[in-house]
Amino acid sequence: MSVNITSVLNETRRFEPPAGFVAAAAISAAERDRLAAWAEKDPEGFWAHHAESLHWFKKWDAVFDGSNPPFFKWFVGGTTNVSYNCLDRHLAGPHRNKAAIIWEGEPGDTRTLTYQQLHYQVCKFANGLKQLGVAKGDRVTIYMPMTPEAVIAMLACARIGAVHSVIFGGFSAEAVADRNNDAGAKLVITSDIGWRRGNAVHLKQNVDEALKKSPTVKNCVVFQRARNTSVHMHPGRDVWWHDLMSDVSADCPAEELDSEHPLFILYTSGSTGKPKGVLHTTGGYLLGAALTHKWVFDIKDEDVYWCTADVGWITGHTYIAYGPLANAATVMMYEGAPNHPREDRFWEIIEKYRVTILYTAPTAIRAFIKWGDQHPKGRDLSSLRLLGSVGEPINPEAWMWYHEVIGGGRCPIVDTWWQTETGSIMISPLPGAMFTKPGSATKPLPGIAAVVVDKEGNPVPANQGGFLVVKRPWPSMMRTIYGDDERFKATYWSNYPGIYFTADGARQDDDGYIWVMGRVDDVLNVSGHRLSTMEVESALVNHPKVAEAAVVGRPDEIKGEGICCFVTLKQGVPASDGLKDELKKHVTKEIGALARPDDVRFTDALPKTRSGKIMRRLLRDIAAGREGKGDTTTLEDYSILAKLREQDEG
Ligand code: PRX
Repeated sequence: MSVNITSVLNETRRFEPPAGFVAAAAISAAERDRLAAWAEKDPEGFWAHHAESLHWFKKWDAVFDGSNPPFFKWFVGGTTNVSYNCLDRHLAGPHRNKAAIIWEGEPGDTRTLTYQQLHYQVCKFANGLKQLGVAKGDRVTIYMPMTPEAVIAMLACARIGAVHSVIFGGFSAEAVADRNNDAGAKLVITSDIGWRRGNAVHLKQNVDEALKKSPTVKNCVVFQRARNTSVHMHPGRDVWWHDLMSDVSADCPAEELDSEHPLFILYTSGSTGKPKGVLHTTGGYLLGAALTHKWVFDIKDEDVYWCTADVGWITGHTYIAYGPLANAATVMMYEGAPNHPREDRFWEIIEKYRVTILYTAPTAIRAFIKWGDQHPKGRDLSSLRLLGSVGEPINPEAWMWYHEVIGGGRCPIVDTWWQTETGSIMISPLPGAMFTKPGSATKPLPGIAAVVVDKEGNPVPANQGGFLVVKRPWPSMMRTIYGDDERFKATYWSNYPGIYFTADGARQDDDGYIWVMGRVDDVLNVSGHRLSTMEVESALVNHPKVAEAAVVGRPDEIKGEGICCFVTLKQGVPASDGLKDELKKHVTKEIGALARPDDVRFTDALPKTRSGKIMRRLLRDIAAGREGKGDTTTLEDYSILAKLREQDEG
């Protein structure tokens, strides 16, 4: 492990939050300092104090149990329920008839669910799950389009203590089967179709394929998104959502669950091997989600808050579902693509619903820039007061565009750094409490001990690159990799004893502001989503004509990273453009459209170390058209590099 990321960014602009924003902000600069100092001095007291604002059936005996690291426990002995906290708690007071979810489908259909209505649907669906034999602790796969039913399904699982595993609707049947099997899922919840750029995505068809290879799955619930779609309902296994809901009671008290009861598994790519089932539990996760949502988004009762992520990613879990609903916020939810039917769809939604807070990703922002200013400028965006960014480093020019064109120069930007594993935001401005700099996620939130260290674990001097680590456990941290405690230890806790390793490189500037520089391993970050190079390589290699493959990212203006594949073919197989297309389609089928290669290059051999490891670092230079300056002393056969370069020029 070496620190091989050097920062070339020299960004000195700074932006103070507008006076009006500061005056109304829940957390002032002084309050932020007070919270940070308190958390340093007495972390347990600090977290316990904030956990008091949640509903507990029974209060905890101990705030924290660190006796068996890295398997930490929070609010030990306490019992609570996430669905109760997101719903029932709000019914007694003024929020009962407040809009919980305002939804718009891609074709333009709309629905609004108040907290009362959402509660009713969740209770009924939870009873439906019970009727199908789903019990506390059972795993349930959710493979849904972005409709309120995805959130209803999640909350219904949480209500009865079933553990959900949401799989992004863009993933293939193969991916669904792998995850069903890893989790030992008992039930799959899906939809006939979802809409994407005017096309139907056939989710149920994919599930049918997946279930041929998912022996643990007993039933499948199918939500009807469209009329007249000819889905096949497998007798005895499949049941329509509306049929299940038609004769169940709406009385379903929330289970009293242990604070450490598993809430969900979410699969994320690792640098090597199969996807990791990141496991989050109940009390600590809920605290992280609710508190960070309140602080970072300065949430107010009258806000219309819109996080544009898909519920299939952690951002959707924490900042569409659990965080905002725990805070009784009004959540805007949109099903489809940002450029359907036109490139101004997002701005139309903001104008129509008077959205006040927008949380999106740099990859989307770069696409908006490409589509042109006329789209946002043609709409009234004056309702916006706060903007957020997540998923990858935001380049300063995209930040500036977001600030000026979308925010009209008046909205603070919260650039939020976190991971599937961290459960909730770790590094971010508190928008009324600090100035921001384009491209910096600023400082860790109060209570979060994130620092930049060298490979020995010592803090690095200002402006020097190092590894981003977290020195102290925090409530919403992942608890393990589902079914693989050893891999959990090896991946996150073996680089530095007792310290959480993020695998991101970062530097801190003279103000103590953190600039995250990206992954230090081989994971691709495509459109803000992490993909494992190894998974794409595996997909290529299982094509009958492919001998070997190495996959690297290369800079892509829109997606952050594009996927470039170096492929060696089996003996006697001729290289052709037709085969390139065939391989692109093959990867799409195996993993999903997200992993579609941008470039496939055929080569006679791959550059490898003497011990046989592919040197992706060298391939990255070639893919990006750069003259490689890195160390090549471990390279086995120099002529391979020369040939690859020649081919690039040709
Ligand atoms: O490399 C960092 C990048 O995304 C990784 C986490 O990816 P994932 O688990 O899919 O979660 C994405 C949504 C939280 C991180 O290790 N990343 C995420 N947010 C930022 C970021 N890099 C720089 N700045 C960010 N704001």
